[in-house]
Amino acid sequence: MTSDKHTTHFGYQEVPVTEKASRVADVFHSVASRYDVMNDLMSFGIHRVWKRLTIERAGVRPGHNVLDIAGGTGDLTFRFSRLVGPRGRVVLADINESMLRVGRDKLIDRGVGGNVEYVQANAETLPFPDNSFDCITIAFGLRNVTDQNAALRSMTRVLKPGGRLLVLEFSKPRSALLNRAYDEYSFRLLPRMGECVAGDADSYRYLAESIRMHPDQETLKGMMETAGLERVEYTNLTGGIVALHRGIKL
Ligand SMILES: C[S@@+](CC[C@H](N)C(=O)[O-])C[C@H]1O[C@@H](n2cnc3c(N)ncnc32)[C@H](O)[C@@H]1O
Repeated sequence: MTSDKHTTHFGYQEVPVTEKASRVADVFHSVASRYDVMNDLMSFGIHRVWKRLTIERAGVRPGHNVLDIAGGTGDLTFRFSRLVGPRGRVVLADINESMLRVGRDKLIDRGVGGNVEYVQANAETLPFPDNSFDCITIAFGLRNVTDQNAALRSMTRVLKPGGRLLVLEFSKPRSALLNRAYDEYSFRLLPRMGECVAGDADSYRYLAESIRMHPDQETLKGMMETAGLERVEYTNLTGGIVALHRGIKL
């Protein structure tokens, strides 16, 4: 999670910092073509509700510049492209070319046109000038980034003053009972579903493990503040299984 360590976690495994990005890349190359189907199955479609709330809290208006980093198959980008209109711009960016290709094909099939750009980029070192975007979203992406603090700093740098960063991510369930049920589901059922639908149990085991290793609500709030964001607040969704954090660059 920090830049001064030589190892980091890949799920429950301790791996050299230099290895995590390629391990994560293997996961998303492997699941890209079945990613959307698995998302609906795994979350019983609830990820759509979490994403709708993210859009509502983003406050995006016509003419805005939006960055959807780790945007994958483009669910948020699709909605933002409607909101910013022809005078605005949405950048769908992802480190992984397989995810980006699936996302671009899907958006083109849905008739999304001239206001979306596709950029292969690492959240830790964003290739955009300072103060470029009115809003940045990272949905279910931060957990996969090797140096999360560097990514938060980089996103803050490219936000315009007054701009908002929204982080939608798995988090820590609020009740012990929910936690137990969620553990059963994640470690027993998820890898089997991954095997059946995407032919890949390991990637979905990584998903379950990476969620458990991700900072909890308060820790992430503190990390966003350290990166320079202000008025950081979060909302627990589905009992804290997911949390939506929002911060503003003043
Ligand atoms: C679980 S998917 C989320 C996709 C999409 N945002 C959504 O909510 O459906 C995580 C995405 O993060 C991307 N990713 C992982 N590490 C990244 C990094 N360092 N920079 C940018 N994207 C990254 C992966 O390639 C993958 O597409």
